[in-house]
Amino acid sequence: MKPMRVGLLGLGTVGGGTVEVLRRNREEIARRAGREIVVVMASARDLAKARPVGVEGISLVADPAAIVSHPDIEIVVELIGGETRARELVMAAIASGKHVVTANKALLAKHGNELFAAAHAQGVMVAFEAAVAGGVPIIKAIREGLTANRIEWLAGIINGTCNYILSEMRDKGLPFDVVLAEAQRLGYAEADPSFDIDGIDAAHKLTILSAIAFGIPMQFDRACIEGIGKLTAADIKYAEGLGYRIKLLGISRRTPGGIELRVHPTLVPARRLIANVEGVMNAILVKGDAVGPTLYYGRGAGAEATASAVVADLVDVTRMATADPEHRVPHLAFQPDRLSAIPILPMEEVETACYLRLRALDRPGVLADVTRICADRGISIDAIFQKEAGEGEEQVDVVILTHRTREKDVNAAIRAIESLATIASPVIRIRLEELL
Ligand code: NDP
Ligand code: HSE
Repeated sequence: MKPMRVGLLGLGTVGGGTVEVLRRNREEIARRAGREIVVVMASARDLAKARPVGVEGISLVADPAAIVSHPDIEIVVELIGGETRARELVMAAIASGKHVVTANKALLAKHGNELFAAAHAQGVMVAFEAAVAGGVPIIKAIREGLTANRIEWLAGIINGTCNYILSEMRDKGLPFDVVLAEAQRLGYAEADPSFDIDGIDAAHKLTILSAIAFGIPMQFDRACIEGIGKLTAADIKYAEGLGYRIKLLGISRRTPGGIELRVHPTLVPARRLIANVEGVMNAILVKGDAVGPTLYYGRGAGAEATASAVVADLVDVTRMATADPEHRVPHLAFQPDRLSAIPILPMEEVETACYLRLRALDRPGVLADVTRICADRGISIDAIFQKEAGEGEEQVDVVILTHRTREKDVNAAIRAIESLATIASPVIRIRLEELL
């Protein structure tokens, strides 16, 4: 059988890893796919930089459009990143009847609805396993493995850079900037690392996961996003003392009022498996009504881990290329005409437990004022802890753990607490999830 001919747009971290994995495991991959998968063309803006990735036999071009329009190419692999140029190229590939494999979560979260509609109309596949959690086959697991279930919720560590930063800060006491520079050197971070730090990359991935878990369109603009930029060593330490780890989680949950879609630092009980996921590793907990909780774990970023997912997609597309389009797995797991209009729940209506840290004057009555404010808003306190004042210190840290409460009520309580004359600085709020 003739080899499947692939054109690669981008020869950076993931593009280079893809060339290497396809080369090294060529025979094994052909035995699985039923035919060889061969990269015949590849593009990079700086061709001199791309040469060391082992591109012998591949026709290199500077302009990715030359690949998209080339009649010999059957699958276009988009590994450029960004939204504008990548969107134009992917739309052009689809329009010319080529299948697409992409690792670009930003593109899918923001333009996925349009891309999948175009692909459906053209009868081509857009595969995107590498877009979420690097090498962890979470798309396949949710879209196919859990297909019998009504999914109740999912929660995941889905940004390797942030998890790496949080782990290194906690374990080695290294400063934020030093760890971020290392994550960039290792090829984990996005071209603009603020996408990682500010939680945007995790929200892109969560948008994709929520779409395939609940059968809803991509709705990135409705996600509530908070990154790790404001986390302090003090909060990480207090959380540890109380038996919790802080992780940047993406959480999506089905509730009677709508689907929760939120990314934020989260206290998780230290005894949960997911709380012990360290470094660049990712993990996603998915709770289905039939199977119960399931956990998927693995390397969430880096050249070959991500290439593992890209190549898995290439094999899938190769196997399914001759199948009737109606018999393929739908892009968003549910048939395109059966997507649900269930709304995304506004953040103010979301219920979570919370960690609140206040900097308070060490005077009689301060805690009574704070607890009254909480009680007036129906906020039930689970635990309260005051750090002993240091010598000559007038202000002390007070940490409160609340039971599950509506975000709206916690916001109102925080405003009232901050207006007390005895409270010295803004209240720190970190949401807490038991993940049961
Ligand atoms: P890199 O920056 O390492 O590589 C990008 C490649 O695309 C380079 O070859 C670059 O060329 C080329 N390129 C960039 N912009 C353009 C453009 N406008 N026109 C033509 N070529 C362009 O990125 P990564 O490999 O890290 O990431 C690629 C994609 O994979 C992104 O969508 C990313 O989010 C995603 N991803 C990355 C992971 C990782 O661990 N790195 C993991 C999972 C997904 P040149 O170098 O010459 O500028
Ligand atoms: N920047 C991303 C991360 C790459 O750190 O998780 C993998 O998508």
